[in-house]
Amino acid sequence: MEKLVIQGRTRLHGEVTISGAKNAAVALIPATLLINGVCTLENLPNISDVQIQCEILKELGATIEWLNPNTARIDTSTVDNYKAPLDKTSKFRASYYLIGALLSRFHNVEVGLPGGCNLGARPIDQHIKGFEALGANVEVATGKVTASAENLIGAPIYMDTVSVGATINIILASVFAKGTTTIDNAAKEPHIVDVANFLNSIGADIRGAGTDIIKINGVEKLKSGSTYSVVPDQIEAGTFMLAAMATGGDIVLKNCISEHLDCLTAKIIEMGGKVDESGDEIRVYCNKRPTKANIKTAPYPGFPTDLQSQMGVVLALADGTSVISENIWESRFQYTYELIKMGAKITSQGKTAFFEGVEKLSGAPVYATDLRAGAALIIAGIAAEGTTELYNLQHIDRGYENIEEKFRKLGANIIRVRE
Ligand code: EPZ
Repeated sequence: MEKLVIQGRTRLHGEVTISGAKNAAVALIPATLLINGVCTLENLPNISDVQIQCEILKELGATIEWLNPNTARIDTSTVDNYKAPLDKTSKFRASYYLIGALLSRFHNVEVGLPGGCNLGARPIDQHIKGFEALGANVEVATGKVTASAENLIGAPIYMDTVSVGATINIILASVFAKGTTTIDNAAKEPHIVDVANFLNSIGADIRGAGTDIIKINGVEKLKSGSTYSVVPDQIEAGTFMLAAMATGGDIVLKNCISEHLDCLTAKIIEMGGKVDESGDEIRVYCNKRPTKANIKTAPYPGFPTDLQSQMGVVLALADGTSVISENIWESRFQYTYELIKMGAKITSQGKTAFFEGVEKLSGAPVYATDLRAGAALIIAGIAAEGTTELYNLQHIDRGYENIEEKFRKLGANIIRVRE
């Protein structure tokens, strides 16, 4: 068993380079199945979700050569299998993209149901709605999704819920469909735009990604031999921006796209923090106690649910009483019970949590309950007086590359210990 041992209280300062986006990378890798050829993906984050997605592709018959820890040359011309096993797909959420990609390529697919952070029900009914609209027969049984289609025909699809996964999955399934597919009420996250940019760079015809109406005109095939660099991770960037706020620090983030963080930047400034943007760098500093805030999570460009727990740490230390309304997931406040062990004063009821700010937190043994909660608890340990021991690191390693090293370079006293 591994744990992180963190000695607080540290004001973080210095520079950190942001890695490629997890939620783009885990979609781009299965998207290469559509090429039936070769492509090189750069700026891949070195995280376990990416490793597992690559392992699945290799089990399907792909050849993957790692040119360095963040660059993979993927050859999917040798893929001859459209069945992905439940024991692998259940390890993370993004295995669902294999359904859209394999359906597109083989008109046949059998993929184990996805797993991922425990945030509530996490249905895939909107994914299935899209596949069926394109002409596929879809069945969910015995822990897997099977789908088949004589032909995939472009169709108008109106999303009942704004869904990142379903939007990307329907794009993957419609790239070769005959005619035009329209996704109305589409999600607009940067990783959706990244997947569309990648596919368009090799011959797909996808328009409107990043807006709520996306049109996909079916094409015959995609080009082999290209190279594509994954978009910077706006959630990792936001995590470090909030770490600067929680610790009264001064951090310069490199390799960012500041427009992807406009909502968070506005909130940080509202709470008394300072944000300087210059090119692909963002400097965040806060030399006084943050003031309270009201947070409502929403689909992009609203406040990201994936930064909710990290913001919760700042609110736990802010001056005044704050409120978070979590409008995306049914159950994303488990981390508050861990913060209470550290002296925070938080009450939560359903989708709402109230934070009565305290002057300081105190170190304690705490447990990561999901990927972003784990990151939040690292921030809390750095901001707290005394020693924090953080367990369940597997959650964090799914989505953050070398996280303790990045925090150590910013002055944190943090080590990974194998018990
Ligand atoms: C993606 O999950 C991200 N994961 C999540 O990030 C993120 O929290 C979420 O989008 C929202 O931004 C990946 O990209 C791998 P959704 P996803 O489909 O696709 C409901 C992280 O920390 N819904 O946008 O699963 C759903 O229940 C992770 O990196 C349906 O009802 O999210 C939720 O309430 C955690 N039916 C809402 O829509 C469906 O078919 C948004 O879900 C699909 C979703």
